[in-house]
Amino acid sequence: MRFATLISGRGSNMQALLEACAEPGHPAKPAIVISNKADAGGLEIAKAHGVPTKVISHKDYPSRQVFDDALHQAIVDSGADVICLAGFMRLLEAEFVNRWRDKIINIHPSLLPAYRGLHTHQRVLEDGVRFSGCTVHFVRPEMDEGPIIFQACVPVRADDSEDSLAARVLTWEHKLYPLALRLMAEGKLRVEGNTVHIDAPLALQDGLMNPCPLPA
Ligand code: GRF
Repeated sequence: MRFATLISGRGSNMQALLEACAEPGHPAKPAIVISNKADAGGLEIAKAHGVPTKVISHKDYPSRQVFDDALHQAIVDSGADVICLAGFMRLLEAEFVNRWRDKIINIHPSLLPAYRGLHTHQRVLEDGVRFSGCTVHFVRPEMDEGPIIFQACVPVRADDSEDSLAARVLTWEHKLYPLALRLMAEGKLRVEGNTVHIDAPLALQDGLMNPCPLPA
């Protein structure tokens, strides 16, 4: 399986994917990294991994549809058959998403369907919720929607700032995204309706409480 990664910024999730795929015998190969921003830090990281990069700036296109068409063409030309969105800050039109149905995955820094969209950590802190986390999911035309592959849950601490919470969540993003990509490359993810069936031995962890009374 060859995958294209779409980024707009620092590219730490992209880096986690590229590092995982560099392991011998990994079933996924990076075909291209595309950024809609010329100054995305992730482009240098991709080059350092020897992965072809391309900048396709949305500002150079008269409409979303024409921009999406250019993206689509570049991805097809790269030989990629799967797309990973990794901090890609442009909404993709339904036509694009439907062309790649069940072949685009995304990582989002919240426990979807809660906190779709931007500024997730800020909103989580404002709401005083006790847990947050991240989600890897197949992409559907609606923003941050689609069948969920993995979620990881982290506690929100009383003294958290946006940065400290983001860092705790990001640690899990970097574990979940490569794992999802590997399972996808191995053909072990099956989408049925809104549910993803994972044909691999995985453990189920039991409940969590936060904050938690101290043991007597
Ligand atoms: C991550 O938090 C990801 O979940 C969200 O955008 C951020 C991108 O960070 N979609 P990076 O560019 O992967 O470091």
